[in-house]
Amino acid sequence: VDSKNLLYEGKAKSVYGTENPDEVIMEFRDDMTAGDGARHETMGKKGYYNSIITSKIFEILEENDIKTQFLELIKPGTLKTLKLDMIPIEVIVRNRATGSLVRTYPFEDGTILNPPIVQMDYKDDDFHDPMLNETIAEALNLATKEELETLKSLALKINQILSKMFEAIDIILVDFKVEFGKDSKGNIILGDEISPDSCRLWDSKTLDMLDKELFRQGHDDEVMNAYEEIYNRLLTDYDKK
Ligand code: C5P
Repeated sequence: VDSKNLLYEGKAKSVYGTENPDEVIMEFRDDMTAGDGARHETMGKKGYYNSIITSKIFEILEENDIKTQFLELIKPGTLKTLKLDMIPIEVIVRNRATGSLVRTYPFEDGTILNPPIVQMDYKDDDFHDPMLNETIAEALNLATKEELETLKSLALKINQILSKMFEAIDIILVDFKVEFGKDSKGNIILGDEISPDSCRLWDSKTLDMLDKELFRQGHDDEVMNAYEEIYNRLLTDYDKK
């Protein structure tokens, strides 16, 4: 990719323009941050694993009629994707109570949430990603009431598909975050990534964490082994099921 075409640089990914106005290149870097960027490390093959894991998950979602930004894994670390106008909302689905939910509300850690909780946060570092409600999101012009309903129902459908997918490889999908954008025609499409950076994944048998929470809790030396484990189960074991 040509650095002159850099459109956007996030904390772990960079997006580049191409000759095709409807497509962008998404580069998964090895950077790992936590606490609004307060901690920053470079982690081995993170870009390699997350790009391939995201590609695989988006392919499975497409097979289940969820439209995604994914077009092609050009090489490990680099995806060709549809250009979207991203909606600055992080849609979080929770099947078990943990993380910020148990810090904010009196849930016991690990409690199964059925039906799952859907939460929307405003994606803005300066404001520390505050939780939204429908009227705040509408007042900020982030989305219409109908669009918010669409985001919620898409997130729940994605949760059903991914919970089953992870169950097949002995992983509990505890919670995850997704982001959506609009294509040139205004259709709402799943974008960004779904990876161990954006999900909490627990081994079904041991309940060991296999995701970025290890980094948040300072177990930096275990992070890449966990990502490799998810990569191996999803890219090798899953297709044998
Ligand atoms: O920290 P919290 O409990 O709110 O996180 C819920 C889920 O959303 C977790 O899976 C976490 O990895 C994901 N998340 C994310 N990006 C954020 C905040 C949360 O991917 N900025």
